[in-house]
Amino acid sequence: MRTPIIAGNWKMNMTIAEGVALVEALTGALQGVTGAEAVVCPPFTLLKPIADALAGGGIKLGAQDMCWEAKGAYTGQISATMLKDVCCTYVILGHSERRGRFGSIPADWDDDLLLAFGDNDTVVNRKVKAALAAGLIPIMCCGETLDERERGITDEVVASQIRAGLNDLSATQVAGMVIAYEPVWAIGTGKVCDPTEGNRVIGIIRATVRALLGDAAADAVRIQYGGSATPDNIAEIMAQPEIDGALVGGASLKPAFAVMVKTAAG
Ligand code: PGA
Repeated sequence: MRTPIIAGNWKMNMTIAEGVALVEALTGALQGVTGAEAVVCPPFTLLKPIADALAGGGIKLGAQDMCWEAKGAYTGQISATMLKDVCCTYVILGHSERRGRFGSIPADWDDDLLLAFGDNDTVVNRKVKAALAAGLIPIMCCGETLDERERGITDEVVASQIRAGLNDLSATQVAGMVIAYEPVWAIGTGKVCDPTEGNRVIGIIRATVRALLGDAAADAVRIQYGGSATPDNIAEIMAQPEIDGALVGGASLKPAFAVMVKTAAG
C-alpha cells in the first residue's frame, strides 16, 4: 500500500512572512489528518524559516533543486548536505522548468536565455544519486512537451527520461523515491491532463521501473501527477489506481492546498 503524497512546489514565489503565514494555516488545517503525506517546497531563501515554522508538525519540507557536487567552487549552487542541514526531507529534481522545457515561454526569451535552465537527463541522474547519498528523497520529474505529445512520442519520451534518470540506481533506492509525471503543456496553463490519460502514462512509467529494477521497486515507488492540479480536480486525479499523489504548483500557494491533502488522505 503506497501512502499518497501531495507536494507543493512554490517555485519563485513568497516572502518569508508570506510563507510562514501559509504553513501556519496549513498546519492548523491539517491537524489530525493522517493517510497522506504533505510536503512544501519553498525557494532556498525560505527553507530555514519554514523549517522552524514546521518543526514538530506533520508537514515535511522539500527543496526545488540542488547541485550534484557535495561542496566546492560552484558559485550560486546549493548542496544536498546544505538541504539536510535545514531539515529538508525531499528535493524536486529535473522539473521541466529546470530542464528549460516550458509550457509557455515568455515572448522575449530566446535560446540563449533558455540555456540558463539547462538540466538534461545526465544532470538529473547525477543529482538524484547525490540526493540519495545524502539521505534526501528525490521527487524526480518527467513529462512530454506539447510538440512531443502531438508527434505521438509521449510514451517513448517519458520512458527514456525514466531510464536515464534512474541509471545505475538500485531497486531499494528507487523503491524509496518519488517520481512526478508532469506533462509540460499542463503546467501552469490550467489545462489539466485527463486523469485517465495521466493514469495511463503513469502506468507506462511504472512498467518502465518494473522492467529496469523488478516488481518490488515498481510496486513501492510513488508516482505523482503534476500539471494544473487544484482542489477542484484532485479527487478525480486521486481516484486513478496508478496515481499516488500530486505535485502542485499554483494551487499550493493558498491555504486551500490543505483541501488537496485531505482529499488524498481519503
Ligand atoms: P501547476 O505546476 O500546478 O501550477 O501547473 C505544477 C508543477 O510545475 O509542479
